[in-house]
Amino acid sequence: MNISQIFANNKVWITEKLKGNPEYFKNLSLGQSPEILYIGCSDSRVSSEELMGAKPGEVFVHRNIANMVPNTDLSVMSVINYAVSYLKVKHVVVCGHYYCNGVKAAMQSEDMGILNPWLRNIRDVYRIHRHELDAIADEDLRYKRLVELNVQEQCVNVLKTADVQKAYKERTLTVHGWVFDIKTGQLVDLEIDFDKILVNIMEIYRII
Ligand code: CO
Repeated sequence: MNISQIFANNKVWITEKLKGNPEYFKNLSLGQSPEILYIGCSDSRVSSEELMGAKPGEVFVHRNIANMVPNTDLSVMSVINYAVSYLKVKHVVVCGHYYCNGVKAAMQSEDMGILNPWLRNIRDVYRIHRHELDAIADEDLRYKRLVELNVQEQCVNVLKTADVQKAYKERTLTVHGWVFDIKTGQLVDLEIDFDKILVNIMEIYRII
């Protein structure tokens, strides 16, 4: 894809949208009230809105390497704060994906510079779930399971924030852990039982 093609594509897109509704962009300019916050990987193959069939205005999106929610990252923390406390989203989704290079890189014994502290968070996920992961003999399956457990831990990180704890207590918010399978195109709900996970740890992380 070359850069000039992008601008040609944009013109075609505008024409198509206006054909369906001449007020399309005028309506978009009035504001947004998305019900979903989606936190996913930056991977170019995981095109968040496209895989969900979401239209502009429907999903508030944050993407970074390996869909992480580190509490020291001002960007993801600001996104969660704004989406939950101001936009009042009803759902927070953390969506990982199989064949995630970020997760794979975290499993290598290699100095990756500035990526070291970012990927270290994934090594911590491995440590927390070491017994389960070490018991998986097949390397591909172990790597896939780490992708899933990383989603689970990032969901727990979402639940550690004050904004989410407040909304969760008021029962206005649901947290979801999903995985996108690049090989099949399928989006899978991991159906994580947060009540079960949180029962043992929430006393530690409760703020509200
Ligand atoms: Co990825």
